Amino acid sequence: MPLRGAVSPPPPGGMGPHKEEKMKIFIDTADIAEIKEALSLGVLDGVTTNPSLVAGTGKEFVSCIKEILEVVDGPVSVEVLALEYEEMVAEALVYAGWAPNVVIKLPVTKDGLKAIRHLSGHGIKTNCTLCFSPMQALLAAKAGATYISPFVGRLDDVSQDGMELISQIVEIYGNYSFPTQVLAASIRHPLHVLQAALLGADVATVPLKVIDQLLQHPLTDKGIQQFLRDWEKRAQ
Ligand code: G3P
Repeated sequence: MPLRGAVSPPPPGGMGPHKEEKMKIFIDTADIAEIKEALSLGVLDGVTTNPSLVAGTGKEFVSCIKEILEVVDGPVSVEVLALEYEEMVAEALVYAGWAPNVVIKLPVTKDGLKAIRHLSGHGIKTNCTLCFSPMQALLAAKAGATYISPFVGRLDDVSQDGMELISQIVEIYGNYSFPTQVLAASIRHPLHVLQAALLGADVATVPLKVIDQLLQHPLTDKGIQQFLRDWEKRAQ
């Protein structure tokens, strides 16, 4: 499976097949303390939430999301609970009114696609979620989704290669220059992030634990200790 970077060379003076120059890292949480910690590292581009994550905070939905919007300038995905088109759109319009960086998260269903088409036609950004197949991703892109969220970890959980799905979506979107951004979701460990980056995913949304793991290396810690010991031993 070709990597996105290998599909074609960048045009002279222009961008390559990437729709965005940099890979973005979002944090996958509704926990404000975790978001603030990740923000303090200076590498965070946005936030994704879902009903399970908001429920896990124990907070009321509206105040939980608004608290996040107060501290995050980048895209914040807020998921609708409605399952039918009209209710999805009504819910989305409320959330989209809270801040310009709200991204409406909707499931890849018939009603979800209709709502994505409607919202994208009104300039509202969308994140099409619960994607488990490349054909779902194709339909989401055709409906005008801003992001598609393939759930790699949940596919791995049922013995399907989640990263193969990322690869297929990146290839399909690249074939036709769909502007929909591939947002690798349900990330469980650093190798998922590495593979997403190698495949050219536009975004990886990552729990704080995995952001921490991305940074850790025992040789870094060992090297710091060695430098300090050598400095202490220097001739005074
Ligand atoms: O936010 C959607 C996704 O990242 C959920 O991940 O770990 O519940 O499969 P997980």
